[in-house]
Amino acid sequence: MPREPMIELKGLRKSFGDQVLYDGLDLQVFPGETLVIMGGSGSGKSTLLRILMGHLPYDEGSVLIHSHELQDFSRRELNAWRLIVGVLFQTGALFNSMSLRENLALPVREHTDLPEELIQIMIKIYLQLVGLRESIDRMPSELSGGMKKRGGLARALMMQPRMLFYDEPTAGLDPVSSAQIAQLILDLKKKMDVTSIVITHDMKAAFEVADRMALLAGKRFHLIGTPEEFRTSKDPLVRQFVDGLLEGPLSPQSDQQAYEADLLHRDTD
Ligand SMILES: Nc1ncnc2c1ncn2[C@@H]1O[C@H](COP(=O)(O)OP(=O)(O)OP(=O)(O)O)[C@@H](O)[C@H]1O
Ligand SMILES: [Mg+2]
Repeated sequence: MPREPMIELKGLRKSFGDQVLYDGLDLQVFPGETLVIMGGSGSGKSTLLRILMGHLPYDEGSVLIHSHELQDFSRRELNAWRLIVGVLFQTGALFNSMSLRENLALPVREHTDLPEELIQIMIKIYLQLVGLRESIDRMPSELSGGMKKRGGLARALMMQPRMLFYDEPTAGLDPVSSAQIAQLILDLKKKMDVTSIVITHDMKAAFEVADRMALLAGKRFHLIGTPEEFRTSKDPLVRQFVDGLLEGPLSPQSDQQAYEADLLHRDTD
């Protein structure tokens, strides 16, 4: 297995004002793998994707893309990096004012000079791949949530990405649509040999697609390992997250104290 990481985080630190979000993140993403990132709401999963896309600066540590520091990228290098990564954002996968066909054509028209006939063929190929060829001329408002997610994925694929970042690809979907998305993630890995980062709370989908998993908790990666290591871990925090337990280290007891103090106008400490 090639051991040269595509992406590497070393001691990454990031704060918003006095809120420390990451207190030293270390992570490697290897070519061809699907890495699932899990973590509670607000733990900083989406923010990490924004940092990886160069949309948000970091405070300390390194984000290395093929061993080059992301924060030192020139404008040209940054654009080149963004072009090889397809991102499926948590919200707003498609432009609402355009049909699915126009949504898919847009990035290709903008970034390449491929002939229009070829673009139209690609649109059909990728819509077929995600099961939406028959909806080609529908507007996003005429699509279900799951169809929109698949449409967003088809649009990302139009640029032939080498990496795909998925932010909560199955959130809000019924179990069948979730299973379809998980299957698509697996198919894309096989057919297009992409490297993927999948952010999800959906443990079923996570175990279906992951080669490796990482749990973001307490401002760091609490555990990075194989699905098997997550399944068999006895760590209470990992168990609480993977088994979806109400009681455990992730339970917001300190929040509860702060809430009561707030109600009673009392200082917490
Ligand atoms: N630009 C910003 N300015 C200030 N705080 C921010 C900013 N962006 C994100 N945050 C804060 O960073 C924290 C992490 O946000 P993020 O969206 O990364 O969480 P998440 O893990 O993706 O959560 P969810 O599972 O709910 O999507 C939150 O507390 C959020 O308020
Ligand atoms: Mg998020």
